[in-house]
Amino acid sequence: MTDIDFAGRTALVTGAASGIGAACARFLADRGAARLILTDWDARGFDGLELACPFNTIVGDVGDPDHWSTVAEHLEGLDHAVLNAGIAGAGKPIAELDWARWKRTCSTNLDGVFLGLKHAMDAMRQSSGGSAVVTASVAAVRGIASVDYGATKAAVAHMARIAAREGGPDGIRVNAIAPGGVDTPIWDTTEGFRSFVESKMEGDRARAIEEFGKIGTPLGRFATADEIAGQIGFLLSDMASTITGAVLVSDGGFSI
Ligand code: NAI
Repeated sequence: MTDIDFAGRTALVTGAASGIGAACARFLADRGAARLILTDWDARGFDGLELACPFNTIVGDVGDPDHWSTVAEHLEGLDHAVLNAGIAGAGKPIAELDWARWKRTCSTNLDGVFLGLKHAMDAMRQSSGGSAVVTASVAAVRGIASVDYGATKAAVAHMARIAAREGGPDGIRVNAIAPGGVDTPIWDTTEGFRSFVESKMEGDRARAIEEFGKIGTPLGRFATADEIAGQIGFLLSDMASTITGAVLVSDGGFSI
């Protein structure tokens, strides 16, 4: 196959109600996917969702094994998975980070990806293989974020390598994407970004994203969710048929 084409394919996307996950759902649907299974804990984020293919939305917490028992009922014949749900880090130094907040980040960013991979790889093994992409971060390769975020993202990138080694004999490819800054609502959940918008940008969010995009980044800007979705789509697709266990850094050169 020489094109990015998901005709006849079934795909799972986590964190699908917003940002990169929602963009992945659109990318897959627009390129012929037969059926999408979309999950997120934000039910309202799915309101009014329209896609070019049939889809199921399942609301729940990716860090909860019981949620995955429900999702697993929909995974028969699964070809692709985007394990992408994530939350921002606490934005605190290690000495000030409390246990409950550490566990909260680990639950979504680490447990959620483990549970997703476990169920997706099981379903793919029972059909004829497939491919998965996990969303790490440039914080997996540079020590730049708070420890809960950076450590969980580094673990997710490494999980892709182990999953790739295990899945290869069953025809399952697993890769990670490690984005730098991407303009999505996740930024609005962080204290640091919100206070920058208010105190330095007079409430102009778009200008704040522009300014953040310039910091240490040779290309001088954030990515869009659609750009990252296209790169995830490439890794999922048959065009990437020999790529497995890779961590694709997509950060405008931030980590150089
Ligand atoms: P977003 O906030 O727009 O989307 C994340 C989605 O995940 C939301 O719909 C949220 O409700 C969902 N979610 C969070 N925790 C969940 C849970 N426990 N169970 C179910 N759903 C949950 O953010 P964005 O940027 O689209 O994030 C997607 C992934 O990309 C995350 O893993 C994030 O860490 C990663 N990432 C984002 C970057 C950025 O600059 N936006 C940079 C590098 C990585």
